[in-house]
Amino acid sequence: MSITTVIDTPEAASQRAKANSMISPRFYTTDFAAMDRLDVSSVRAEWDKMMLEYEGDNNHDHFQRDPGFGAEIHDMSPELKQEFLDFLVSSLTSEFSGQILYNEIRKNINNPDIKALMGFMARDESRHSGFINQSLRDYGLAVDLGDLKKTKAYTYFKPKYIFYATYLSEKIGYARYITIFRQLEKNPDKRFHPIFKWFERWCNDEFRHGESFALIMRANPKLLTGLNVYWIRFFLVAVYATMYVRDHTRPQLHVAMGLDPKEYDYTVFRITTEITKQVFPISLDTDHPSFRAGLERLHQISDNIAAAKARGGLVGLAKQGIWAAAGLATFTRLYFFPVKHHALPAEIRMVPAW
Ligand SMILES: [Fe+2]
Ligand SMILES: [Fe+2]
Repeated sequence: MSITTVIDTPEAASQRAKANSMISPRFYTTDFAAMDRLDVSSVRAEWDKMMLEYEGDNNHDHFQRDPGFGAEIHDMSPELKQEFLDFLVSSLTSEFSGQILYNEIRKNINNPDIKALMGFMARDESRHSGFINQSLRDYGLAVDLGDLKKTKAYTYFKPKYIFYATYLSEKIGYARYITIFRQLEKNPDKRFHPIFKWFERWCNDEFRHGESFALIMRANPKLLTGLNVYWIRFFLVAVYATMYVRDHTRPQLHVAMGLDPKEYDYTVFRITTEITKQVFPISLDTDHPSFRAGLERLHQISDNIAAAKARGGLVGLAKQGIWAAAGLATFTRLYFFPVKHHALPAEIRMVPAW
C-alpha cells in the first residue's frame, strides 16, 4: 500500500493524525471509577522502586535540541520525505494518545498510586509528543494538538483492554525505538535525521511505562488467567499485525535506514516477546514460517484493499468487501495459530537490555 494523500500543509498533517483507519493510532477513554479501584499493594516493593525512578526523572533534560540539530537534517527524496513525515505524524499521534489518556485518568481519580503514576507518564509523553512536533514544525507542518484532542474520535476501552493494549504498545514502542537506534548507531551515515539520536534515552521512558502496566496486571492476576488469556491473544495478534502492515506502507524509510521492513519487524517482535514473558502467559510464534506467511498475506490484502479504494465505483466497493472478508479470515487463522505457553517469573521488573 502506498500513502495516498500528501502531507504538504499543517491541515494535511492534522488530517493524517485524525484519520481512523485500521492501522492508524487511536485515542482512548476508559472507566475512571474502575481505574480508581485498582490495588497494587501485592507488588508494593517493586511499585515503590519504580515510582522512585519516575521521581528521579533521569530524562528531564533529554528532550532539548542541541544547536547543531538543523544542520544534521539530510536532503530527502520526495518519497522518503513523505514516508518520514507519515512516520512523524503517526508517532506523534501515538505519543499524544498516551499523553491524553494518562492525563484524563489522573484528573478523574483519587487513588494515590495510580494518580501519581499517570501524572509521571503524562509528563513523559508530553515531552515526547512536543519533541516530535518540533521536527514537524521545521517543515511548517506542526500539528495543532489542542484541536486534535478536541476533534479526533475516541475509542472506549474497559480498563483491562487498556492494560493489554497500552502495555503492548509501550513495550513494542521501546523495541522499535531501540532497534532503529542500534541500527543507526552502527551505520551513522544512514542517520538522515537527527531525531533518531534521541531514541535511546527516549525508549527507556517507554520501557518504564510498560513496566508500570506489567505491575498493575501482575497485581491483579485475574487479568492474566482464564478467558482473559483469549483477550491477551487477540491484542497480541492485532498489535503485531497492525505494525507489520503499517511498516510495509513505508518502504523508502526502511531503505534509508538500511533496514529490511520484514527483518526489522521480526526483530521488534522477538524483543517484545522476550519482554512480555514478564506478564503474559502466552506468546506468538512469530518465527514460524506459517505465521509469517499469514502476516505477509495480510499485508498483500491491505494493498489490495487500498487499490480497490483507489479504483472507486461499485466494482471497487465490491472488491473492497471481498478483500476485507479475506483479511478477516487471515486474521482469524493467525489468531488460532498455536501459541507458546510460559510460567510467569517471580520477579516482575525487567531492565531494558537491548
Ligand atoms: Fe512516549
Ligand atoms: Fe509511553
